[in-house]
Order: sequence, then structure tokens, then C-alpha cells
Amino acid sequence: MPVVPLKEIVDRAFAERYGVAAINVVNDLTMEAVLAAAVEQRAPVIIQTSVKTVRSIGVDLLFAMWREMTAGIEVPVALHLDHCPEREVISVCLQTGWNSVLFDASRLPVAENQRQTIEVVAEARSFGASVEGEIESITGVEDGVGTDEEADRESLPVALEFIRTTGIDVFAPAIGNAHGVYQAEPKLDAQRVSDIVAAQPIPIALHGGTGMTDAQFTDLIARGCAKVNISTALKITYMKSNLAFLRQAEERGKWDPPSLFTAVRADVMAMAADHMRRFGSVGKAW
Ligand code: 13P
Repeated sequence: MPVVPLKEIVDRAFAERYGVAAINVVNDLTMEAVLAAAVEQRAPVIIQTSVKTVRSIGVDLLFAMWREMTAGIEVPVALHLDHCPEREVISVCLQTGWNSVLFDASRLPVAENQRQTIEVVAEARSFGASVEGEIESITGVEDGVGTDEEADRESLPVALEFIRTTGIDVFAPAIGNAHGVYQAEPKLDAQRVSDIVAAQPIPIALHGGTGMTDAQFTDLIARGCAKVNISTALKITYMKSNLAFLRQAEERGKWDPPSLFTAVRADVMAMAADHMRRFGSVGKAW
């Protein structure tokens, strides 16, 4: 099963109540390692790119990497653009072949966000792509997007009206979750997920996955969080793995880059596989 529309991946996960790991990658090594973990675990996976990563690597090179690495892949995978406030970047990624985008207009008043999200959904549909939407910014700055201030949550009727009117495929509500490292166990408003899903059965994206407990994942996934976002855990694993290897290399006076890549790849694969297990998506590939 090759690259599929993101909607297909999250709809199945939502129906069967497991979570699909949606992991932000930062370069070729991490993209390959997360895909390899998905193949090894027979799990569907969503590869996410921030706007910063799109800019640092370049749209064409990033997509060429994706195309090569997923050619003939045996598990369902999709490429998703994470938090993107810029319409031009959304258009370029959709034209290039991304399977899904998160149009992040959460800084705009809901009515304007809704108006523009309708346009993004129409644009995405013309490429067979999916759209994730949000009406409150998720706390924390990630790759230069967002704010550390916790946003006020909109009412249930406002959220439902946004979901129905825009026709988005995935909804990302603020539930007390945050990007980055939690200083204390987050207090999550799981009931909000249940209220939204009961009124409008739509797969929910759980942002700020790094640092949540197994109990929180299990509960939220059972309530309808079908897409679980992980970014900080990959960044930490990647950098700590490099650091540990380089410290050893210095001690031993051995400088062999391919061995570094092999060690870091193994650690990133283990991190990704661990999340797939915790989200219940192992063996769910079709
Ligand atoms: P973390 O950085 O907390 O893992 O959150 C990832 C995320 O939600 C990406 O949008």
C-alpha cells in the first residue's frame, strides 16, 4: 500500500479507535528512519514537515526525498504540512504533491479563519489532498510558529459550525495540550474531544504529544484522537543520539560519519516504533 490520502489513514484509525503517529521530520535521515519504523511495525504513519523544514530543505528536494523513500512502500503513508499560516506555502506544497495541510489561521477571528479555510479545502480537494483545521492556537512555539500564551477556547457550537461549514477532514482543538516539553503533567480537557466527536464524528488531531502519559494517549485515542502529533521527542532523540555518539567518537578518536548515521537512525526508529506501540497502530497497515 503506497502513499494514500491522509483522510483514508485517519478515517480508519478513527473508526477503529487507534492513533496514527504523525511525526515531524527534520531531514533525510529522520524521514527515512520514521518510514522504516512504520514498515517494521506494519503501522500506518503520517510524515509531517513544518514550514521551517520546508524552507530549510526546499520544497522540491524535500518532496523528491519523500517520493524516492516511499516508492514501493508496503504500509499506508501520507505527507502532511504542519501548522502553516501562509497560503502561498500551502499552495506550493499542494501543487508539489503533499497529501494534506494544516491551515493554521488560529490567529485570525473565527469568521475569517472559516472563510479562508473553505478556500483551502477547495484548493486541497482539487489535488485530492486533505485539510486539518484549527480555531485556537495550540500553546507553545514550534519551529517559529505559535505563541506561549494559552488561547481562549471557543464554544462547542462555534467549533461545530467551523467543522461543518469548512468541510475539513481533521480538527485540532486546544484541550490544554502544548508543543514542546511539559514542565508538569498536562491537565487535558478530554471531555471536549468527546463533546465534539459526539456532535460531529470527525477525526481529532492531538497536538503536543511529546510527554503525555500512556493513560492520556489511551483515553484520548478512545475518544476520537486519531492523529497524534510528535515533534519534540524526535528532535530530542535526534540531537541526544548525535551528542552521545560524538562524545564516544571523541573519546576513541574514531571519526566515521556512516557509523554516526547508523546509530542515530536506530535511535529515531526506536522512538517512532515506541509511539506506534503506545498509540495502538502496530499491525494496522492494510
Ligand atoms: P510536540 O512537539 O509536543 O511533540 O508536539 C508536536 C505537534 O503537535 C506538532 O504540531
